[in-house]
This record gives sequence, C-alpha cells and structure tokens, in this order.
Amino acid sequence: MSVTVYHLDLDEKKTLGARHAILPGDPQRVEKIARSFDPGARQIAYNREYWTWLGHLKRRPLVVTSTGIGGPSASIAIDELAQLGVRTFIRVGTTGAIQGHIGVGDVIITTGAVRLDGASSHYAPIEFPAVAHHQVLFSLVEAARDVLKTTQFKHHIGITASADTFYPGQERYDSYGRRVIKRFRGSMEEWQSLNILNYEMESATLLTLCSALKGLKGGCVSGVVVNRTREERIDNSAVETAEKNAIDVALRAMAILMEAERD
Ligand code: URA
Repeated sequence: MSVTVYHLDLDEKKTLGARHAILPGDPQRVEKIARSFDPGARQIAYNREYWTWLGHLKRRPLVVTSTGIGGPSASIAIDELAQLGVRTFIRVGTTGAIQGHIGVGDVIITTGAVRLDGASSHYAPIEFPAVAHHQVLFSLVEAARDVLKTTQFKHHIGITASADTFYPGQERYDSYGRRVIKRFRGSMEEWQSLNILNYEMESATLLTLCSALKGLKGGCVSGVVVNRTREERIDNSAVETAEKNAIDVALRAMAILMEAERD
C-alpha cells in the first residue's frame, strides 16, 4: 500500500517511484519546466504552494514540485519527496547578485550556502555546513558550460547567502518599515567582502537537509534577476531569460546525472 504524504498529496504510485526532482519555488513555473523536457508530462498533485508535475527524462520518471518561498515550505517539500523515494534534488530559482562582475541573466551555481534560514537548524546544528553534493555540483557546472556557450550569459560558481526574508535578511531598505535590524545592517557589504555571490531563499535548507540526511544529493542553480551593486528593483524584463537559463542548466544537469547513474 502506498502512503500519501500530507502536504504534497502524493504517493509512490503517482510519482512512479521517481528518484529525481526539480524544485522551482514558484508553482507557476512547474508546468513550463515539466513540458520543456517532456511534452507528455502531466500534473499529479496540486495542494497549497506544492504543485507537482511528472514527466520522463532519459526514460526515467522526473518530478517537478514547487517548494513555495523560503526554508519552512521547502523543507516540507524535500522531506516528503524523500519519504516517497526521491534521492536527487536540483533547486532552480531566481536570485539577486551582490558582486559587480555578475550580469543579469547569468546563472549562479551554489557550492555552499550561508545559513540565514531557520528551517535548516531544525535538521542540523548551525555549525553543520550547507554544501552541494559533489556529483550534482559537477553536473551543474558541466551543464552550464554546455548550455550557455552559445549565449551572451555566463555562469558563476560560489557561495550563496540564503535568507528567510527577502527584505531585512537581504538588507533591503525598500520594505514597509524601511528599516533593517542591527543584525543585518551592513551585512551585504560583509558578505561581499567574504566573496559571497548572491542572495536567495531556499538553498540553505535544501543543501543542509541533503547533506545531513542519508542518501540524499542536492544542488542549486539560480538565474540572476537583479544586481544589487547597481540597483534594487528586480528587472521584470530579465526574469524570463534568467529563469530560462537556470532551467535549461538544471535539466541538462539532471540528464547528465541520470546518464552517469546508468554506468
Ligand atoms: N530572490 C531573492 O531571494 N532575492 C533577490 O534579490 C532576487 C530573487
């Protein structure tokens, strides 16, 4: 008898025992991603922020599940997919770059995340590193070289600051309160001086869970929608390209991983 996990409303019959997952944050991206690697992909669940489609890549079932925004909801998606047998996770999202040399539309491959979230500390103490699995990381790098070689866009590999909040945790002052608490004042400059490449909101949770829980492999690729050294507002016209670049890299990396598992 297959058990239905509560939040995702999925069981192993619906997922066809998939062992691989692509994790966008935004539910609206799920269908687009699934159809881009399998025109025959179909929706298998739809509950709260968790929308799931199933398709086939390299003749293997591949689920695409939205995590919603931030660590708490991402932790539920990852935990429940792992309960159903998923072992390899690639998060694909958008990000704000904080180093001047990074362009809007480029992609950032996260080697490790500064744990500015709360959810990951419910799985491992804060001293535990949030690092990408080496095989997923190598596949993302190979994929990015390949996918972006005929474009004007670049890939960057490095450490991400992964925060629970979009505004104070990423030191944004254009919020309702227009203030940032002491803990985060000056934090962007400090991350810049420590060679952090970007801010996003889920990699700390994903990479901690996948590193701490037996048998899981995780990686993260993000498309740059703003460069905070130049501006604060996200450039809406750049979102589609940044998303496409990151999705193409994530899917190519997943295909590379699946091929390698056959050897
Ligand atoms: N996502 C984030 O978390 N931060 C940004 O600046 C852009 C996208």
